[in-house]
Amino acid sequence: MAAMTLNSVNFGAAKAVKFEYVGLKAHQNITSARPHSVKFVPRALTVNAGEAQGGGPVKKLGKSDEECEAAVVAGIVPEAPPIPPKPAAPAGTPLAAPLPLSRRPRRNRRSPVLRAAFQETSISPANLVYPLFIHEGEEDTPIGAMPGCYRLGWRHGLVEEVAKARDVGVNSIVLFPKVPDALKTSTGDEAYNDNGLVPRTIRLLKDKYPDLIIYTDVALDPYSSDGHDGIVREDGVILNDETVHQLCKQAVSQARAGADVVSPSDMMDGRVGAIRDALDAEGFEHVSIMSYTAKYASSFYGPFREALDSNPRFGDKKTYQMNPANYREALIETHEDKAEGADILLVKPGLPYLDIIRLLRDNSSLPIAAYQVSGEYSMIKAGGALKMIDEERVMMESLMCLRRAGADIILTYFALQAARCMCGEKR
Ligand code: PBG
Repeated sequence: MAAMTLNSVNFGAAKAVKFEYVGLKAHQNITSARPHSVKFVPRALTVNAGEAQGGGPVKKLGKSDEECEAAVVAGIVPEAPPIPPKPAAPAGTPLAAPLPLSRRPRRNRRSPVLRAAFQETSISPANLVYPLFIHEGEEDTPIGAMPGCYRLGWRHGLVEEVAKARDVGVNSIVLFPKVPDALKTSTGDEAYNDNGLVPRTIRLLKDKYPDLIIYTDVALDPYSSDGHDGIVREDGVILNDETVHQLCKQAVSQARAGADVVSPSDMMDGRVGAIRDALDAEGFEHVSIMSYTAKYASSFYGPFREALDSNPRFGDKKTYQMNPANYREALIETHEDKAEGADILLVKPGLPYLDIIRLLRDNSSLPIAAYQVSGEYSMIKAGGALKMIDEERVMMESLMCLRRAGADIILTYFALQAARCMCGEKR
């Protein structure tokens, strides 16, 4: 049989595996992407031309519908390909009576077209938020523990990285600053310096890309000489209400610079309501709050802390971040954040906490965000580099699983790479 292709694309047997990702392709309407630079892989259909028809389309004989019907009624049936033979099983296959199954779920999985038709979850670049590390320097500094990630120069590398992301439909970013040690204090006051690294960067980006959605991190750790998310009392206790006071000033400073979504990641009690009040009092009713609702005291944050040099100087974060063993406690945080006016609820880390994502999804109508954190990213990168796993496939699968668990948006260091993959760009 001769193979004839549509759209001059032939996904023959060799490329059949491509179909596995049909559902991962970007939706056709990535409005935020620059259309000229988004390349979609065309739908592939292979048509086999029957030999009976000589390889070309069947010639019309100019007969009317009535004449065609009359011919068939008279027993003159036009030729069609014969009933296909039953494919043979390999020699040695045991003869087994068919199992009496009324339901065979494999029926709906037997072809790429059926699998794509019944796929329940989809993902597009619009679901991704790209976390970016920035610093005062002019060069981009590679982050050893996170291959492919850099501390980006806020005026140079960052602007280029944002342009690349927008090119493939990722139009949302979240900023993480590397603050010079000399500016760190025990009360983290640099966090609300209107001319600090983050507000300056927001103004620059908004000036260049007004429709870019900028998320910010609200927490004191990058600014704290103790490396904690809050103010540390001399006995080691992390002060709650005093920290919230600082966080409100930080959020307002970020909003003033043009942030679209402020994201408290500190896990202090009552900070969402306090930040809402502070924003509203300053005329920033339109600025959203993405609350890190269920943020666990996780060892998966290791590479991130190296990236920002933000390891706690002593102790751990267990008196404010949640115990990884706890599930019900996430509901308490969810109810509080909802009541305090959060616009988006976030779960962090991502893949090891899929049950928590599902818990929040089923207990709130608010959008849910999942943070695929640095340790998750680095493990996939390392596994790929060691050729133990297929990096790209594991990346796409992990993101799809986060969506399946109930995440609307995903913060991921893979945002650019994954979006390129979804747009059919192989690099
Ligand atoms: C701190 C903050 C952390 C991350 C985001 N915001 C680290 C921490 O809590 O120590 C981790 C992100 C990652 O690991 O990718 N406010």
